Amino acid sequence: MTPPNTNAEQQEIRKKTPSDFIFGKVIGEGSFSTVYLAKDVQTNKEYAIKVLEKAHIIREKKSEYVMREKEVLRILESLCPYIVHLYSTFQDPGRLYFVLTYAKNGELLKHINLYKKFNFECTRYYSCELVLALEYLRSKKIVHRDLKPENILFDHNFHILITDFGSAKIEKSEDNDINDGTEDDDVQQSNRRRNSFVGTAQFVSPEMLQESKSSYASDLWALGCIVFQMASGQMPFVGGSEYLIFQKILRLEYKFPDGFDERIKDFIEKLLVLEPTRRLGASDETTYVSLRKHEFFEEVDFDDLGPPPKLS
Ligand code: ADE
Repeated sequence: MTPPNTNAEQQEIRKKTPSDFIFGKVIGEGSFSTVYLAKDVQTNKEYAIKVLEKAHIIREKKSEYVMREKEVLRILESLCPYIVHLYSTFQDPGRLYFVLTYAKNGELLKHINLYKKFNFECTRYYSCELVLALEYLRSKKIVHRDLKPENILFDHNFHILITDFGSAKIEKSEDNDINDGTEDDDVQQSNRRRNSFVGTAQFVSPEMLQESKSSYASDLWALGCIVFQMASGQMPFVGGSEYLIFQKILRLEYKFPDGFDERIKDFIEKLLVLEPTRRLGASDETTYVSLRKHEFFEEVDFDDLGPPPKLS
């Protein structure tokens, strides 16, 4: 006979409900969700709870993206230190709830703006964490497709936590057949961008704009843009409208500010390459060896990055 569950086990198994948490301030807002800081009544632990209004999701035909985000976060469940963790999901008649890691120190964007730009050491450290996070995503066959400094959060120890997998794609492979049409998925993503582009256009890769195609290399393009922004405080592709930004991306029209570190410059130039297969790392197999061995990361031990440097 099976012994009865212990109290702790029963709590683990039982689906949480909104009344298991005390909801606090709003810490994030998107077009289709609001993120609240919340405290687990039992454990006093803090979480970020993403709340989505079902009626709004259905009306705006975004169910697929919500389901995708949940599916991707489930795939990423085997705790990578650099990705927000999905602890549980539940719903009430009107809303869906995603219980996520609380990133106490907010968006990378906020900190870049606060310090105007990062120094070499900080730029290199967070570039390393991003490389490790991208290696992990690729090992799980996930392309994020919307990496930008607003979607990179800092935890209580100032390590990065990548969030917002609502635009992510699960790459098809022999042993992972969840996605039954990666091209369709890209086309849908492209339509979504054209018809209702929300947020920032500055990090979109040329192949996503031009051919409705994305791959791991699209995240490498975004990495190039993010490293540029950390090192200079500016985005590489800016313009008065989305159209003008897209034009600049497709023409690879960007300039490094004076005094830009030569090693970082070379690294970015090798990522901001129009042809995705020619980007640094695009042909790497398991780890991003060619990124790891670039001179920008000379002296870095990717197996032990150590604690983050003080921001400046
Ligand atoms: N804003 C959006 N998601 C968040 C999270 N997980 N932690 C803190 N702030 C957030």
